[in-house]
Amino acid sequence: MKKILVLHGPNLNLLGRREKEIYGTLSLAEIDGRLAKFAQENGFQVATFQSNSEGDLITSIHEAMGRYDALVINPAAYTHTSIALRDALAALDIPVIEVHLSNIYRREEFRQKSLTAPIAVGVISGFGVHSYLLGLQAAFNCISA
Ligand code: DQA
Repeated sequence: MKKILVLHGPNLNLLGRREKEIYGTLSLAEIDGRLAKFAQENGFQVATFQSNSEGDLITSIHEAMGRYDALVINPAAYTHTSIALRDALAALDIPVIEVHLSNIYRREEFRQKSLTAPIAVGVISGFGVHSYLLGLQAAFNCISA
């Protein structure tokens, strides 16, 4: 069975309480639940992990090598700042899909640049929880071809 890892970056543990008008009312646990249901219905496995620490996210990316078939990541604020995260993603030999709950291109200028996007197969941004579900679908398509 194919295995996909979903990584959530900093502050996403506060979903449902944080800037609800931008990020919606679902908690991270509810989003993870939807991802698990989608994976089950489509016959693959999904694991999810959230960290506020850049180093922990990088370690998770390293550990994904040889263990997962694809990676879906919302790097959150590290999208715009982290060369280290980008380098870790570039070292992976599995498809990477970047997702964002909000549309980063209609927000502040500093959010409109993604350092990680050039490493990704594609980016899905602006559809709330559906960005994750579409990202998971895209990752599954990449490894099912
Ligand atoms: C985000 C967008 C980022 O700019 C922001 O720092 C986040 C969440 C999103 O999912 O819309 O924390 O990645």
